[in-house]
Amino acid sequence: MKHFLDVLDYASEDLQEMLDLAVKLKTQWKAGGNPPLLRGKVLGMIFQKPSLRTRVSFDMAMRHLGGDALYLSPAEIGLGKREAISDVARVLSGYVDAIMARVFEHEHVLELARWASVPVLNGLSDYNHPCQAMADALTIYEKFGTLKGIQVTFVGDGNNVAVSLMHVCAKLGANFTIANPEGYDMPTKAIELAKEVARETGSQLAFLRDPHQAVKGAQVIYTDTWTSMGQEEEAQIREKVFPPYQVNQQLVSEADQDVIVMHCLPAHRGQEITDEVADGPHSALFSQAHNRLHAQKAILVKLLT
Ligand code: CP
Ligand code: NVA
Repeated sequence: MKHFLDVLDYASEDLQEMLDLAVKLKTQWKAGGNPPLLRGKVLGMIFQKPSLRTRVSFDMAMRHLGGDALYLSPAEIGLGKREAISDVARVLSGYVDAIMARVFEHEHVLELARWASVPVLNGLSDYNHPCQAMADALTIYEKFGTLKGIQVTFVGDGNNVAVSLMHVCAKLGANFTIANPEGYDMPTKAIELAKEVARETGSQLAFLRDPHQAVKGAQVIYTDTWTSMGQEEEAQIREKVFPPYQVNQQLVSEADQDVIVMHCLPAHRGQEITDEVADGPHSALFSQAHNRLHAQKAILVKLLT
């Protein structure tokens, strides 16, 4: 059974193949439409948290390819509460052709995958966000023609989005630097795994505290919310810790002159990113969000055909 839970489960060549397929599907779509590669297939989408991009881009990806999607809200499923995850996985496997799940605990999406007899896709957990990382890689690939040797710098919280971005960079040979405050590091295990991959691909990884040092030479500056879903009770303290990590015009001016600025969205304008940067000439925010659609089409085609 092929799932899409973590970019590290895939060989670099497979990820590159998915990016090339995403480019092809995007070009096709813009020229008039995609062939119905997923005709008759239905994606069940389990959400334990809110979503705009993941929900709509997966739904539209299925429609563009001749398939369909079902939205299952947090209230409906009550994953692990109303019903055991193992039961949800086995019941849904009899109805739909693949399951996408956005969960709080990473273990829950792994458990779904253990029990499902159809492919499971990770639509964000507290640990990672691999579909986002594929759209991010696609955006970088389109801009620079390669990921090899491209300097990607994440500024902010060592969160789920940072973990998947680091992993896709390591796999595809981009150099990854993060600047985050003490106490907000990525999980040690995620860093160890990235270092192992980077040794093979030649990707260079750096873990810093100073955002100004981190953005020197950056071709991509990436940021995300200071408070992720599920951490709301920490929001006040985080708002005190993170302001030196704001991506603003000053920080952007310290990077490469052709730098692109990325953010998985939703953005908290005035916190991790200023309006001036989000709406400015370096911003790739909206092409990045649109690329969710095309990257996920490629993932779905790889899993379902
Ligand atoms: N970037 C992202 O996953 O957005 P949503 O939370 O809106 O799905
Ligand atoms: N790190 C954010 C990403 C949202 C898409 C969160 O988990 O809330």
